Amino acid sequence: MPISYTSPEKAVSFIKSHQRVFIHGSAATPTRLLYALAERRDEVQNVELVSITTLGDMPLVSEECQKSFFMNSLFVSANIRKAVNSDHGGYVPIFLSEIGQLFRNNILGVDVALIQVSEPDAHGFCTLGTSVDVAKPAVETAKIIVAQVNKRMPRTHGDGHIHFSKFSAAIHVDDPLPEINYAEKISKIEKQIGYHISSLIEDRSTLQMGIGAIPDAVLNSLENHKDLGIHTEMFSNGILNLMKSGAVTNAYKKKHPGKVVSSFTVGTKELYDTINDNPEFSFHEAAYVNDTAIIRKNPKVISINSCLELDLTGQVCADSIGSYHYSGVGGQMDFMRGAALSVGGKPIMALPSQTKKGASKIVPFLKEGAGVVTTRAHMHYVVTEYGIAYLFGKNLRQRAYELKRIAHPDHHEDLDRAIRERFGSYIYPFR
Ligand code: COA
Repeated sequence: MPISYTSPEKAVSFIKSHQRVFIHGSAATPTRLLYALAERRDEVQNVELVSITTLGDMPLVSEECQKSFFMNSLFVSANIRKAVNSDHGGYVPIFLSEIGQLFRNNILGVDVALIQVSEPDAHGFCTLGTSVDVAKPAVETAKIIVAQVNKRMPRTHGDGHIHFSKFSAAIHVDDPLPEINYAEKISKIEKQIGYHISSLIEDRSTLQMGIGAIPDAVLNSLENHKDLGIHTEMFSNGILNLMKSGAVTNAYKKKHPGKVVSSFTVGTKELYDTINDNPEFSFHEAAYVNDTAIIRKNPKVISINSCLELDLTGQVCADSIGSYHYSGVGGQMDFMRGAALSVGGKPIMALPSQTKKGASKIVPFLKEGAGVVTTRAHMHYVVTEYGIAYLFGKNLRQRAYELKRIAHPDHHEDLDRAIRERFGSYIYPFR
């Protein structure tokens, strides 16, 4: 089939009222198609949008679009937060590993998938580029696929290939991808957290990193480690230096030895250039990457994630601030559990001890309405800039004292009082 492109307006003309539209995520957010669809706001009604993290502009949640589009998000990113917390949006709490099931089992069946892909190769195959994650099950099940083919989308190796002939319509662009440089966000506190975590990581460990500056801070303190491997839901620039210096070789991984395995990536142009047509990076569907049965096969899996709030018993709130939807479940639980199941694995929750406004993030009780993403039974290590708490096998009173120890000193008195009120002043005789 010859490759032919159309205009964004014609490409989105396939979308009808009452359909469900999947939007490709992260650095692959197909912004031109979204703007063209927003222009159709007076022609369509009740179009449901589903996506995980999206980056850049999201014109479909603007005030003028609210009458036509409903954002039913599987993860809450900054550009849709207001809509999701209003009457014009909703949030579906779900493990990243299970989103594919929603599409494949027609629980949230996709009518139209709007995606952004790399240019076709000599055989007509494009790739899902920086985000294979849940885009793969979406395109495999969608009735119609509309593609934004971007000259600058890296051609990635792994499972994200899709033939041009599958597209009902395609547009051709030459647009820079959205960039995030987490290294710029690393503060002294994150550096200290990174330093503590590096002391828990042995050579030949397999790493998973969550979202934010802490993962990159950890990676920066691993220069002297040897033969680390990467099997992670997502990664950013932090791994590039470790690959160059030889600290990351992936040599001892049991699954995909020699390769970085991930489901999506977000970073700077340097990262996008590095992964382009590079067989050292293998991108797969999140249902595979985040499957605990796959994760646990690798040796010494270290899972590093972060949260918004943690109660004194170890319950983790990571997707909301009280009842305000802030983020999502993502792959946090998938990897915390996968790490615990791997031989020598360590699930780690890493957080600054305080918010920017000076409130303790370690609290007697989670805020009213807060969502628990990782349960207290899943928790092993908690790390703040004040040290490492080990919760596994500890009773609730012991956990409370262990967590108070790594809370900010300004809050010790309040936490002490809360512990005494809840658990009495009896101190357990054993460590
Ligand atoms: N009370 C009130 N506000 C709080 C808070 C608390 N306890 N903790 C954080 N906040 C606010 C911060 O001030 C900040 O506000 P801003 O948006 O106005 O700047 C915001 O919440 C985010 O906090 P921050 O500490 O900067 O978050 P982060 O970038 O380190 O990300 C999570 C933390 C929890 C949002 C992120 O790790 C996440 O989304 N996790 C869930 C998904 C996941 O873990 N996936 C893992 C695999 S990728």
